[in-house]
Amino acid sequence: MDNIIMMENVKKNFKDSMALKNLTFHVKEGEIFGFLGPSGAGKTTTIKLLTSQLIQTSGEIKVFGKEVYANKKYIFRNVGILSDNSGVYDKLTVGDNLMLYADIYGVPKKNVEEILEKVGMSDTIKKEAIKLSKGMKQRIMIARAVLHKPSLLFLDEPTSALDPGTALEIHKLLRKLNQEGTTIFLTTHNMEEADKLCDRVAFLNSGEIAEIGKPEALKLKYTTEEIKVILRDSDRVIMLKNSPESSVKIKMWMDSGKLISIHSMEPSLEKIFLNLTGRKL
Ligand SMILES: Nc1ncnc2c1ncn2[C@@H]1O[C@H](COP(=O)(O)OP(=O)(O)O)[C@@H](O)[C@H]1O
Ligand SMILES: [Mg+2]
Repeated sequence: MDNIIMMENVKKNFKDSMALKNLTFHVKEGEIFGFLGPSGAGKTTTIKLLTSQLIQTSGEIKVFGKEVYANKKYIFRNVGILSDNSGVYDKLTVGDNLMLYADIYGVPKKNVEEILEKVGMSDTIKKEAIKLSKGMKQRIMIARAVLHKPSLLFLDEPTSALDPGTALEIHKLLRKLNQEGTTIFLTTHNMEEADKLCDRVAFLNSGEIAEIGKPEALKLKYTTEEIKVILRDSDRVIMLKNSPESSVKIKMWMDSGKLISIHSMEPSLEKIFLNLTGRKL
């Protein structure tokens, strides 16, 4: 199967608001797909629709080639979910936190040890969850989400409450899960995170997709083709067009030893989002 997730012309209205206006996108098997947008854009609503926790107002949603809402049980058994309000039971040990879910999912207890090993937390199995750091708790929550070995994992803002160093550890873990074959759909409002981690990203703004593609391709598409030059003994930054005239100048500065650095001005995802939507994240 090529497209593991498919949304076509999906709308979602709540009583007084239109949360999703018209979403169409696909996620391929094996991808890390980033769903990016500011608060209120509709990210959580999209995950809930994809995991049969909500039903769309109109449009078509398929996961594993099956219509989601009509196959609730199947979907639930075969996807992993880390929601934006997932929590561990502080009073239970790490092991018991996971055992509880092993029971619910009907998976063998040996999965617990296996998963703890995978997330690098084997030595905490007897530890009370309250004694874990935020990053460790997040690892346990991810472990819990993949206890039944789903091939598709949904993560709603997996690093939003973490400091940058801890977020990097979680990225490493997600890459590892992805390399072992898990397709990952994650939401974030952190563009830098998306750039580093995701094979493709979609920009969501007010319930609509503003742009979608590989981070590198988007940066090329929206590049300004300007070159930034910094010269010795000058506090001025020089901006040049990408042109033959500029190359003559650059060569001259290089030959005379004046040149300190040259940068191509590839825009960040953050900047592209701002230009497309007029909104910051
Ligand atoms: N259960 C609900 N009832 C009414 N409005 C909702 C509900 N859930 C979300 N919304 C609205 O839908 C929009 C998108 O919300 P959400 O999907 O949570 O955004 P995000 O996760 O991107 O921050 C927001 O305007 C929000 O207020
Ligand atoms: Mg949300």
